[in-house]
Parts: sequence; C-alpha cells; structure tokens
Amino acid sequence: MSDFSRRDFARAAAAVSAASYSRIMGANDRLQIGYIGVGNRGTQVHEAFLEHGDQVTVALCDLREDYMAHNAKISRSTPKQYKDYKKLIEDRNVEAVVVATPDHWHALMFVDACHAGKDVYVEKPLSLTVQEGRRMVEVAQQTKRVTQVGIHRRSGKFLKEAVDYIRSGELGHITVAKGWHLQNEWPVGVGTPADGESPANHKVTEAEWDQWLGPAPKVPFNQNRMYYRFRWFYNYSGGQLTNFGVHYMDMLRWALGKETPRAVTAMGGKFAIKDNREIPDTMEALWDFDGTMMVFSQYNANNAPSNAQNSEMEIRGTKGTMYLHGNRWEVVPEKNTDLPLVARSPIDRDQEKSYRPSFKTSSATPKVVKGSADTAFHARNFLDCVKSRAKCNCDILDGHRSTTATLIAGIALKTRSYLEWDGKAERFTNNAAANKWLSYQYRAPHKLG
Ligand SMILES: NC(=O)c1ccc[n+]([C@@H]2O[C@H](COP(=O)([O-])OP(=O)(O)OC[C@H]3O[C@@H](n4cnc5c(N)ncnc54)[C@H](O)[C@@H]3O)[C@@H](O)[C@H]2O)c1
Repeated sequence: MSDFSRRDFARAAAAVSAASYSRIMGANDRLQIGYIGVGNRGTQVHEAFLEHGDQVTVALCDLREDYMAHNAKISRSTPKQYKDYKKLIEDRNVEAVVVATPDHWHALMFVDACHAGKDVYVEKPLSLTVQEGRRMVEVAQQTKRVTQVGIHRRSGKFLKEAVDYIRSGELGHITVAKGWHLQNEWPVGVGTPADGESPANHKVTEAEWDQWLGPAPKVPFNQNRMYYRFRWFYNYSGGQLTNFGVHYMDMLRWALGKETPRAVTAMGGKFAIKDNREIPDTMEALWDFDGTMMVFSQYNANNAPSNAQNSEMEIRGTKGTMYLHGNRWEVVPEKNTDLPLVARSPIDRDQEKSYRPSFKTSSATPKVVKGSADTAFHARNFLDCVKSRAKCNCDILDGHRSTTATLIAGIALKTRSYLEWDGKAERFTNNAAANKWLSYQYRAPHKLG
C-alpha cells in the first residue's frame, strides 16, 4: 500500500469500524480465513486482510511451498498448509475462504467452498466461461453464502462518489465509455520458452503441472502457461480483455445501473509481438448497452497516452466527460450549442458565416476528486458483510454480470462476429455456433458441484 493510501485507509477504517475496534479482539471474535492460491494476487489480498484486526489466517493452500512459507511468515499466526484445496475446505477451523488461483479454477473452488458452508472472497474475472459463472451464482444463492468478487474498485469511496455524480445526471446522457490496457511489450513479450523447460527459480514437477491444469485440457508443460503468465493463454484465462476489461466494464455497469449489453463485437490479433502467447497483442472490443457504447482497447505493442488526460477510463456524456485514473477522477464540462447545425451550401456561404451558436459551457460541475480503491477497503467490506450477512459491494451476481460481458466479447473475437445477446437467457440469439463457447468440457475427474 502506498503511503497515501495507507493513511487514507487508516482514516476510513477508523470511521467505518470504530465499533469493531473498540474492544480487544479475542481469537473467537476473529474471522478464521483460509487462502487458496497465494501467488502474486493471493499474497496482495492476504496483505489487505491483514490490515484488519478482526480476522486471522488459519490455513493456506498453494502448489508452491515457497509461496506458502512466505504467506505463513507475514500472517502473524501459524496457519496449516495444504497442497490440496479440498483439504483446506474440509478444515473445520476455516470459516471463510479467499480464492486467488488462475481463472479456470475459480468455479470449482468457489462452488465446493459454498457447499461446505464457507463464505467466499473470489478474485476476478469470476469465471472462465459464462455457464460456470451462472452456476456460481445459483450455488451461492442456494447455500446463502456471503460473497465478494475481487473487483476492488467497488469499495473505493471516491469511485462511489463518481458513480453518484454520473447517476445525478450532471454529465447528461452517457453515450460512450472507454477503458484502456496500454503496455508496450514489443518485441519479445513473454518470450518463447521450450516445452518442458522449468523457470530458473523453480523446478516444476509433473504432479504440479497436472494440479495446475486441473479441469483444463492436458497439454505439454510450458512455463508460460503457468505462474502469472497464464493470462496470455485461453485455457486458463480470457486474456487482458477479461483481466483488465472486467474492472472497466464493472465501473461502467455500476455507474449506469445497466445489467447486460445487448450486442458485442471485437477484432484484433497478434500483430507485432513474437512470443508464444495465444491472446492478441492488439484488440478492440465494443458493447452496445442500449443507448451507451462501451469500448475496451488493449494495445500491447504501443504505450502512447490513451487521451489528452492519459486516463484509464473516460465516460463521455452530452454535458461533460469524466476521466478516471487509479486514484482520482476529473470532470471537464462540454460546450453545448443552442442552434441546429448549419447545412453548408456552396452557393450560400453567408449562411455559414452568420451561424452563431452560443457554445455555452454546460451545467456539469467541473471537479477533481482524489481517493484510493485499495484492496484493504474491499476486504473490510467482506469482513463486515460476513458479520452482518448483508450483500457485499461486489457480490457474486455483479461479478458474474461484469465478467460475462467481457467473456462474450472474447467469443466475438474468436468467432469474428457481431453477436446479439439475450442477457436473461445468457445466450446469443443470432449465432448458434457462438453459444458453444459459453461452456467447456472439464477434464476428468473434475465436475462442477
Ligand atoms: N483484483 C485484481 O486487481 C487482480 C490483480 C491480479 C490478479 N488477479 C486475479 O488473481 C488470480 C491469480 O492471479 P495471479 O497473478 O496471482 O497468478 P499467480 O500465478 O501468481 O498465482 C496463482 C496461484 O494459484 C496457485 N494454484 C494454481 N492451481 C492451484 C491449485 N489447484 N490449488 C492450489 N493453488 C493453486 C498457484 O500455485 C499460484 O501460486 C487471477 O484470477 C487474476 O485474474 C486480480
């Protein structure tokens, strides 16, 4: 956590949870959490929970002993360590579970944890396929679990203020929202390691590879398909479209109160980077949200600024534009005209010259709002909701809807299609072949409960 966000967080935590900190926590007052997947993100989420006094780490699960040892060391407790996630879920000391494994494992682990009566914080994107996500929603509802999907911007107070600003109508009608993932990875990207070759710092065994793959198809071991770099391969991830796109998609859905898009299309490819990735290095996805268009641009062979403000997202309304950065947002009002546009004519240039619209600055209030969407706020919200049984800021249904929107864009890209989407039935209505991408056959013996 940066110094700024740490201070910011401490202030907010003091205000929000004064009651829970007003007494010394005994072991029984603390939520007993088990962490499945303590790699790059799992460790960050663990650290976010460790910011709070009313939780304790009782168990860890990962394929890597060194990752578990690191997390045991930072945990200020003596957690049990498991290599099989089912054992962690069976552990009666575990009251809630955090899942931060690669995307293709989320559904199995989440559903098993719900059936075992554990509340679950699960990382985004929620699932690898739409059908998995739908099942996760059903099981969470049937088992009455408290769920939080790791789209942590939902717990950023300054972003809630952005949503309130947009919903107040000050930006007018939102016609376009855009999000960018910009990173120049040219020329070598993630490289082209040979199959069978372990990374220099970690020898991967056949059993570890098999456990990594889980429900995914058995393919020869390649280190780029594994730790961290799995997001460049489709068997384990939807690529940067779901990895980053889900954050932006969720922000737009939240701000506009929209549930699902009615159509989607995408194009792109591997245009410049020479490595063994499967996902594009350059792509553009577009969604039709019935009166608002959403665009996600993934440019991984060029890192020029997104727009004049170099923001991560922009939300364009008839009366103003909101530029969203990681720790602030800004509104720039539009200038609106009061006269219809002139019809230019070669034989009547005077008409054009005398056209004097007002170009008045709109009523949108110019604003700069700073803040933090640190994951510790999202963890705080989960801990509070586990106690109160209230719905979390990003519960399973919102996580599913935002993930689904990005997953169907991935299907449009793969099938090179413009796809019309029935958000209630969760099916494409104009392309039967595209529907087969909504699920996939798990490798035996894996089965979604
Ligand atoms: N919210 C965010 O901003 C954010 C940021 C980064 C990553 N993520 C998400 O977190 C997830 C993990 O990504 P990462 O970058 O940490 O990847 P990572 O490869 O660093 O970590 C994944 C961990 O899962 C473990 N794992 C894999 N299969 C397992 C199994 N069967 N049982 C137990 N452990 C298993 C691996 O050993 C590894 O340590 C992804 O879904 C990713 O999208 C979210």
